Amino acid sequence: MAELAGRPGRRTFSGIKPSGHLTLGNYLGAMRHWVEEEQHRADALFCVVDLHALTVEHDPARVRRLSRQTATLLLAAGLDPELCTVFVQSHVDEHARLSYLMECTAADGEMRRMIQYKEKAAREAARGRSVRLSLLTYPALMAADILAYGTDEVPVGDDQTQHVELCRDLALRFNQRYGPVFRVPRASYPQVAARVMDLRDPTVKMGKSHAETSGIVYLLDEPDAVRRKVMRAVTDSGAEGGMEYDPQERPGVANLLDVLAACTGGKPQELAEEYTSYGALKKDTAEAVVELLRPLRRRHAELCAEPSYMEGVLREGAERARALARPRVDAAYAAVGLLPPG
Ligand code: TYM
Repeated sequence: MAELAGRPGRRTFSGIKPSGHLTLGNYLGAMRHWVEEEQHRADALFCVVDLHALTVEHDPARVRRLSRQTATLLLAAGLDPELCTVFVQSHVDEHARLSYLMECTAADGEMRRMIQYKEKAAREAARGRSVRLSLLTYPALMAADILAYGTDEVPVGDDQTQHVELCRDLALRFNQRYGPVFRVPRASYPQVAARVMDLRDPTVKMGKSHAETSGIVYLLDEPDAVRRKVMRAVTDSGAEGGMEYDPQERPGVANLLDVLAACTGGKPQELAEEYTSYGALKKDTAEAVVELLRPLRRRHAELCAEPSYMEGVLREGAERARALARPRVDAAYAAVGLLPPG
């Protein structure tokens, strides 16, 4: 057990939920860093967390379609199966097995405090739907995703902070009660665009499952759709002539500057000084996003023409993930007092 918790080398794990079409927020906040940094620096696993897509009312055919599309987009964005492990959560039983132990480690109160739970439960209720119990226990499954692999680092956008904090708490509590089975992971965030906001309502994050889509840039949007959405972005009522980077007071402009900075490698504060009109800022941002997504869309189309290649990648990814997770989850089962099977 001590050896499991003390494994040398750095391991990265992150996940993405097939609950909608992937957005520019997913790309800038997470995927891009997985591609450009994490897969080169660490022993990295990236997971299409399909079980998490069942926590709200869902259409089975759509989840199936989106799971395939999400995996394909991860590769299209540049994840290389020779460098990292890409797989689907439900293909590896260890996630669900460990999730139960996390539910036995977590307290009801700490689950109910999760902001995402409160927001999503309110949204489901407003639509007249019942709130699934799995929406409440979601962070236990997410902790299991991370802890099963002895993960050191979890690269995410900043909306995941609370969940990763809870995961750390659960790891520490478990280790204290039962012995050192888990590594205690930490979250890492991109320097720019850790929270891309909705273009039409820059007070909320750009989210793939939102019903109102006019402020959301999807990774597979046609260039003209991207241009239209960015050009219609809400800016702020501050006077033209002098742009300021002020996320509190001018969230719409700050969001465009963040996106432009993330696309071009600049700094939002410095870019603000280069513009005197919202129109010019929007135009340059739109073109930068179109160029950023162009190779990804092309590669996605190529990969769609080779479904058996994708299937092979996911099969091998799941095999590797299973082999990595199994010993630690077995150790956790033994540590809590469950009899090992003969
Ligand atoms: P999900 O599917 O909502 O998002 C996937 C990743 O994209 C980031 N992200 C954003 N970043 C910046 N701006 C945005 N507007 C934006 N929208 C999304 C998210 O922060 C995330 O990094 N609970 C997770 C999935 C998950 C997971 C895990 C992540 C399940 N198990 C284990 C890490 C480790 C989620 O719903 O992500």
